[in-house]
Amino acid sequence: MSIPPDQVIFGLSEGMSVVRQKLEKVAAANIPVLIQGASGTGKEIIAKLIHARSPWESGPFVKVNCPAIPGTLVESELFGYEKGAFTGANGTKPGRVESAQNGTLFLDEIAELELGLQAKLLQLLQDGQFCPVGAQEDKKVDVRVICATNRNLTEEIEQGTFRQDLFYRINVVNIQLPSLRERTADIPGICDFLREVYSVKFNRPSRPLSARKLEMMQRYHWPGNIRELENLIKRYVILGTEDAITVELSTSTNSSLIPDIPIDGSISLKKVTRQAMREFEGKIILKILQAQNWNRKRAASALNISYRALLYKLKEAGVSARKTNGQAQQKE
Ligand SMILES: Nc1ncnc2c1ncn2[C@@H]1O[C@H](COP(=O)(O)OP(=O)(O)OP(=O)(O)O)[C@@H](O)[C@H]1O
Ligand SMILES: [Mg+2]
Repeated sequence: MSIPPDQVIFGLSEGMSVVRQKLEKVAAANIPVLIQGASGTGKEIIAKLIHARSPWESGPFVKVNCPAIPGTLVESELFGYEKGAFTGANGTKPGRVESAQNGTLFLDEIAELELGLQAKLLQLLQDGQFCPVGAQEDKKVDVRVICATNRNLTEEIEQGTFRQDLFYRINVVNIQLPSLRERTADIPGICDFLREVYSVKFNRPSRPLSARKLEMMQRYHWPGNIRELENLIKRYVILGTEDAITVELSTSTNSSLIPDIPIDGSISLKKVTRQAMREFEGKIILKILQAQNWNRKRAASALNISYRALLYKLKEAGVSARKTNGQAQQKE
């Protein structure tokens, strides 16, 4: 997917406006940037955006996914090799560092790099030099280095798995990406954008999501962040119905008693409490319904409420008392 427009990437939330300001300041200067954030928060998109806004935008953007390269091959993949460096090295091959010449080298999941290679990377960052495997002399490159990780590097340093000196080198500017839960106000904008992208890609009509579904999305805890949202929207566009996403949003909603409320906008205590009460009641009713084998009359009597009251509460909580794959569904 190409880079989304600025208003979709940065949205309206405070956390992302800090990101935007930093990005605008650092893009033009050849200084290393470390992007930190949980899985799926958009680290790669931000790295690409920095490249696109830099003076090297016409140069290559070379991504190295550190954990994806088998251990023994990382060094030669990154730094290249000379003919005869090892069995099978029949010619000289440039590594990814060299292919990023006059462009950006994006080192994804940097914490996975083993200590020996961290030392080589440190040399690259210090004086722009590196030594291909089996070479007699160092080579020089001009690259902008951006690193990303979803790990806590301070902890890695304490455990001795990440070099402190390298950390200082890569962390000249640090961009911390907020989780999707911290930017719930941005969910509708991102949804609209992704619906458009995937309705064109899959050649399907894409109807706007209902207000109720968007509200559910804003309450959901999104452990997989924007990547999870993207998959959800893909499913919605392909299957064409909101039911396709309801179960995920309702069954995995944070089960804690404190509801997931948007923390970056104003809220109405009364409204949120009423909503939480309804959901809580819905959950209890579902549990009892399940225990009573989906017999609504028996469930009502077990709950000490009238049958009519049960039906009303089910409706209010947006729950259908139909049995679906062993679980009841939140209706839309
Ligand atoms: N603001 C956004 N609007 C729309 N899509 C986005 C946005 N940010 C990220 N995405 C999409 O979400 C997915 C995850 O983004 P990206 O790969 O940049 O995250 P990441 O932090 O590198 O994830 P991981 O830790 O899993 O590698 C990508 O498919 C990307 O296109
Ligand atoms: Mg990534």
